Amino acid sequence: MPETPSPLPLTIAVDGPAAAGKGTLARRLAGALGLAHLDSGVLYRAVGLAVLRAGGDPGDAAAAADAARHFNLGSPDTGRLSDPALRTPEAGEAASRVAAFPAVRAALLDFQRRFARHPPAGRRGAAIDGRDIGTVVCPDAPVKIFVTAGLDERARRRFAELQAAGADVIYAAVLSELEARDGRDISRAVAPLKPAEDAAILDTSMLDAEAAFRAALDIVAQRAPGWRSLVQDVR
Ligand code: DC
Repeated sequence: MPETPSPLPLTIAVDGPAAAGKGTLARRLAGALGLAHLDSGVLYRAVGLAVLRAGGDPGDAAAAADAARHFNLGSPDTGRLSDPALRTPEAGEAASRVAAFPAVRAALLDFQRRFARHPPAGRRGAAIDGRDIGTVVCPDAPVKIFVTAGLDERARRRFAELQAAGADVIYAAVLSELEARDGRDISRAVAPLKPAEDAAILDTSMLDAEAAFRAALDIVAQRAPGWRSLVQDVR
C-alpha cells in the first residue's frame, strides 16, 4: 500500500496576553502533532533576568540591548532556559520591560525565525508561543491562534499557579501586575501585542485546558488541510 506523503512543514503561531493559557496550549499541540515547541517569552525573561542579576535596570535601553546581544542563542543553553528563576513574577516584569526595546527584539528575532524554519531534532514543524509570532516573527505561518481570556480569569489562573508552586502571593497584586503587563505589551511601539489579521481568536475564559486544546485542533485542521488526518488521529 502506498504510504501517505508527509504533510508540508507546519508553523503554528500561538499569541496572546499573559496567563491566557497559550504556553500550555502550544506545548500540547506540539506534543500531539510531533512539532518542536518554543516558548518565546522565556527568551525575553532570560534577558530581563540577566539585566537584574548584573544589578542593572530592565528599563535601561543600553543595558537591556547589551544583555540581549550577549545572550548566547546560537546554541540554546537549555539549562539556562529552564532555570526556575525565569518563571518568577520579577522575571516576567523585567521581560515585559526589556521587550519594549527594538534592539532587544532584533537580537532575538533570528533565533526564533530559525527555530521555525529549521525545527530541532528533525521535527516537521514548530509551535511557538509569544506576543508577536503571528504578526512579526512568522507572518507566513499557516496556523495563527490568538489565545485570550478575561483579565479576572487570567489573574485567577496565575494566582492558583503561583500558590501551587508554594509562592506567598496576594490576588490583588497578581491582578494589578497582569494589568500593568497587558498595558505595556499592548502599547509598546514595536511589535505590540495584537492579533494578526488572519489569526483565529480563541477565548478560553469559559474553556478548560482540554476544551481549548480540542478547539485549537479544529483550527489546525481548518487552516492546514494537509495535517487533517494527523489531527483526526490525535482526537
Ligand atoms: O509569555 P511570558 O509571560 O513569558 O512573556 C514575558 C514577557 O516577554 C511579556 O510580558 C512580553 C515579552 N514577550 C514579547 O514581547 N514577545 C514575545 N514573543 C514573548 C514575550
